Amino acid sequence: MPLPPGPREPGIVQLVQFSQRPLAWLDDCARKFGDPFTLRMPGLGEFVMAASPALVKEIFTGDDDVLHAGKANALLEPFVGKHSVLLLDGASHLRQRRLLSPPMRGERMQAYASLIAEITRAELARMPVGTPFSLHEHMQSITLEVILRAVFGLEEGAHMRSLRTLLLAMLEPPPAIMAFIPVRYLDFPLSPFRTFVKRRAAVTRALREVIRARRAAQAAGGAPGTDILSLLLGARDEDGAAMTEDELCDELVTMLVAGHETTATALSWAFACLLEHRALADRLRDELAGVDDPAALAGVEYLDLVVKETLRLRPVIPDVVRKTQRPMTFAGFDIPAGVSLAPCIHLAHRRPESWPEPERFLPERFRGAKLDPYAWFPFGGGIRRCIGQAFAMYEMKLVLGTILPRVELRLANPGTVSAVRRTITLAPKHGTRVIIDRRVDEGLVRGTPRATGSPHARPGTGGAGHPPSR
Ligand code: HEM
Repeated sequence: MPLPPGPREPGIVQLVQFSQRPLAWLDDCARKFGDPFTLRMPGLGEFVMAASPALVKEIFTGDDDVLHAGKANALLEPFVGKHSVLLLDGASHLRQRRLLSPPMRGERMQAYASLIAEITRAELARMPVGTPFSLHEHMQSITLEVILRAVFGLEEGAHMRSLRTLLLAMLEPPPAIMAFIPVRYLDFPLSPFRTFVKRRAAVTRALREVIRARRAAQAAGGAPGTDILSLLLGARDEDGAAMTEDELCDELVTMLVAGHETTATALSWAFACLLEHRALADRLRDELAGVDDPAALAGVEYLDLVVKETLRLRPVIPDVVRKTQRPMTFAGFDIPAGVSLAPCIHLAHRRPESWPEPERFLPERFRGAKLDPYAWFPFGGGIRRCIGQAFAMYEMKLVLGTILPRVELRLANPGTVSAVRRTITLAPKHGTRVIIDRRVDEGLVRGTPRATGSPHARPGTGGAGHPPSR
């Protein structure tokens, strides 16, 4: 049988649909063609989109020699560098993953609790009171700062300020359509792509300095830091070899590119979902009342349910991709080499068979539920599942749990927040515009017994630019 059915529009129309109105387009195609269906996009090839747990499982547990994610991510090379784990396949991918994974495991996250809470409180103090603003920009500042300090291990100072400036210049988002156009069409004099390449080179130079300085400090007998770079410097593969400077450099940029905008977007969605459902936001505030220690925030069950449901209903990335290296059979179809099999996160997360009332935001659905990795996979799956999952979910809980009890806030434009594409992510329109009505005295939050009502209803004491008192 040939490839599964799909839309007959010219490839360029499908590319524009997929980049400009991805969710509505995926929904339309699923309705018309069922599961799986095929999209065709010029320069990118054919994509077989799959949503049912059985098909998703077939892809995530398929033969790694045939299904390559690195090849499917080739467009990212100018961003992340050729040594990036995102671009590797086979043995070199497994080696890099083994080196990168231990510092990112869930049990290590507590080391970052106070740091994330501190960064969040400082950013909260910069949010205005009484005027509408985009929450997303503040979430980006938080997640960038967390990466600079927890992953790169930098301390506030001139060095960190200059690296932050270089990174922000590099991360300036190109027009969304650029994420779908092969580099050969973008690389011409004065193109935004050339500007990007120069900025990326400046970041690489600065990161090499950071790596060399940290290596020298460790060699001089300095205590190894708890940041991820310090741990990676000590990591050894099965042959006892350390990561090279090129590898470290590309992996640091990879963590930044893969972890900064994604986590900021997931946080913006979490606020959007909660503020669309004020009763649920109040409930969460009640559950957070009296939780003083940052590390304890991550243990608040309802916070965990809210994070999981946000990532289900509003996944940051709509699909992940594996490119076939040889012909294979999938779902009864003969798939030739060079086709991308794509577990579609958006469609899988909206299947009524897996998720009753899929369009509703219902954190309770996760209470006591065992996660099915082929029905809920906002972080992808199989041997390519996101290395930063534990880190991102921990950070989301800490940021939400730190902000919510300290401010009374609402959506600037009540109603459902719609999704827009920002290169490869799907973000809330206008970055979740909110209004903070007042800040809440921290002393009152901590001291208020739950029976007296939700603490966020207390009058605020601070204003824009005033850090909450400690
Ligand atoms: C809410 C935040 C995040 C989301 C939604 C997310 C999502 C994803 C997805 C969908 C993939 C592809 C998985 C696949 O192909 O099956 C991925 C891969 C990856 N992510 Fe994340 N991510 C997030 C945060 C992070 C963070 C914080 C880091 C690191 C600091 C990170 C590092 C990576 C890396 C290194 C990979 C490549 C794994 C591989 O190819 O083996 N991510 N992520």
